Amino acid sequence: RSALRSSLRAAAPSAPRMFSSSAADRHAVAVLGASGGIGQPLSLLLKNDPLVTSLRLFDVRLAPGVAADIGHVNTPAVTTGYSPDGPEGGLKKALEGAELVVIPAGVPRKPGMTRDDLFNTNASIVRDLAKTAAEVCPKAHILVISNPVNSTVPIVAEVFKKAGVYDPKRLFGVTTLDVTRASTFLSGIAGAKPSETIVPCVGGHSGPTIVPLLSQAAQGSAVKAGEAYEKLVHRIQYGGDEVVKAKDGAGSATLSMAYAAAVFSNSLMRAIGGESNVVECTYVDSPLYKDQGVDFFSSKVTLSGEGVGEIHPVGKLSAEEEKLMEACLPELKKNIQKGVQWYGENP
Ligand code: NAD
Ligand code: LMR
Repeated sequence: RSALRSSLRAAAPSAPRMFSSSAADRHAVAVLGASGGIGQPLSLLLKNDPLVTSLRLFDVRLAPGVAADIGHVNTPAVTTGYSPDGPEGGLKKALEGAELVVIPAGVPRKPGMTRDDLFNTNASIVRDLAKTAAEVCPKAHILVISNPVNSTVPIVAEVFKKAGVYDPKRLFGVTTLDVTRASTFLSGIAGAKPSETIVPCVGGHSGPTIVPLLSQAAQGSAVKAGEAYEKLVHRIQYGGDEVVKAKDGAGSATLSMAYAAAVFSNSLMRAIGGESNVVECTYVDSPLYKDQGVDFFSSKVTLSGEGVGEIHPVGKLSAEEEKLMEACLPELKKNIQKGVQWYGENP
């Protein structure tokens, strides 16, 4: 059985899950950008998830090789690699019948860059992949990892709208890594188990748009305000920079990201399969701050058979968190507008 657990609650004890038995336990997952730093370990983790029975790996390079390698792991997922012009068929073949489409395709940061500096390259990569998904698997759940997530998710929404197949319940920006980091960092300070340290992170996925709600964590009282609080918030907001700096030009977070995306994918598959009370923070088309021009927002979302179920409001905020939200919303609005405007000019 999978060791993955929802990022927002401790795993409930459950009976060991035998290999897939019902339709609810069988899912076809496509990974676009499968040969990259995230793509490879993510594909391996998905191969190890008993809920995945068909794993399609697409990349502009190396995907058949990655699939041949991962395919030797003795778990049920039938794994196939697809290149743009390969004999197995290209992207369209990879997407046929896919229920989840996970997108880590695109370039990562180098030291000194912001996620927004990736926009010019990644916007068109994500747009083109989304166009084919809208055509081939319009009902698939699309999980966007490629940065800048704050802008690439609205671009996917625009692509699906233009194709007349947009379902806001089926589009997700993967922000699970922020929750994962917050849990790790706070548990280290509080001396608690990471699995029991649950810190919702709301807003978006870059610097000031990441708003950790430490006041809602049981261990939050370990750092309420002052210097220690500010240091922790900064570490959560800029955890990505920490990895970019440490990798020194060789890219950004890949392994922790692969883990986070595997957790989110597992949660979504369980919800699609009928499990209730599966809650994750994710960046979705959200009513919460639309009146302030912020059309996409990450908050706790109860996942459902259709994808997005209930979108939870952020809840009670501390005075510090109110200030973080004030910094988040205008920046997020700009990032969203940038994506929508770019797509309008580059459909
Ligand atoms: P990487 O360069 O190692 O891998 C990217 C892969 O995408 C490569 O294998 C490349 O061949 C492939 N690719 C490029 N264009 C493609 C296309 N048109 N179709 C299919 N595949 C294509 O990069 P990485 O470290 O895996 O990061 C990928 C993206 O994920 C970056 O944009 C990075 O910023 C982002 N990221 C997001 C989060 C998050 O929390 N959401 C975390 C880490 C990284
Ligand atoms: C992260 O948070 O690690 C990713 O968004 C990658 C990055 O550029 O920092």
